[in-house]
Amino acid sequence: MNFIFAPSLSFDDVLLVPQYSEIASRSEVDTGSAMKNLKKFSLPIISSPMDTITGEDMACSVSRAGGVGILHRYNTIEEQCAMARNITTKGQDVGAAIGVGDGFLERAKALARNGASFLCVDVAHGHHSSVKRALKSLKDTFGDSTHIMAGNVATLAAFNDLADWGADSVRVGIGGGSICSTRVQTGHGIPTLQSVVDCSVSDRDALLIADGGIRNSGDIVKALAAGADFVMIGSLLAGTDETPGEILNTKEGKKKVYRGMASKEAQTAWRGRVSSIEGVSHVVPYKGPVEEVLHDLGVGIRSGLSYSGARSITELQGKARFIRQTSAGTVESSTHIKAR
Ligand code: IMP
Repeated sequence: MNFIFAPSLSFDDVLLVPQYSEIASRSEVDTGSAMKNLKKFSLPIISSPMDTITGEDMACSVSRAGGVGILHRYNTIEEQCAMARNITTKGQDVGAAIGVGDGFLERAKALARNGASFLCVDVAHGHHSSVKRALKSLKDTFGDSTHIMAGNVATLAAFNDLADWGADSVRVGIGGGSICSTRVQTGHGIPTLQSVVDCSVSDRDALLIADGGIRNSGDIVKALAAGADFVMIGSLLAGTDETPGEILNTKEGKKKVYRGMASKEAQTAWRGRVSSIEGVSHVVPYKGPVEEVLHDLGVGIRSGLSYSGARSITELQGKARFIRQTSAGTVESSTHIKAR
């Protein structure tokens, strides 16, 4: 047993200190981020491989906005390949999720043949021998020609191991997702920002993808400043036209379903049985086209970089100064006008 009493910080525990800036316009700010073997993306946003977030429509729209989507794997190989093919014939990049169970390599090869630009080994607890074996098979099959993302992890040791096992990018964050109940169900996890800070000191080449609990462009800027190369988001995109699923007409207005992939509902739908339930299913307000959501996030990120006097994400990471805020500061930090 080993107790670590140092505080683990979450997004609301910190703020970035505004800094001297010579940036005349936010259009001077470059929010681009590159992935090995792929082009530079102009928006450092990746949509989550979840069945209520990223299908063909979402992947196309995120790509159009400058980011990239990862097609979820809760379908047949043929269905996922058809989506990858349709997207890539339109000229745009797309990632595709795979698991580590039976048939994962067959799925990976089929996706690569059908144009997937990169593969994502999508496992809840990525620091695991099954991921090590999967990464070895993928590297033996594809060499260095295909970018391989893997995760999720929460510690530096896990980040380094996945990088050493062959991951070109690593999803960092366990237990922080908006629809996640892993910490309640298992008692395990680390606040996502803390995991990003911890993993950012890695001397490995792998990219760091901050994943889980990102609620607004301010959280995105904090994650990037703390060392993330990209952020992965689910809830911020949930409820938009481009998510898979119907619009529900309820007494409270239009809604769409957003659910964790380890929720009872998702497990029942895709596996026909339920094991450890580590996610929830929710209806969220319908938000309209995702294009507007992504536009607003892009504007917020650019503004965030300019407050740190940074023209690029690399410059932001060099200049960023974090302070901790008290609970009174957290209240002041969100809008708090009172009706009179
Ligand atoms: P959000 O952006 O806060 O909504 O978090 C999305 C992230 O939650 C995904 O990218 C996954 O890493 C994670 N996630 C998805 N489904 C589940 C689940 O059922 N339980 C725990 N985490 C999940």
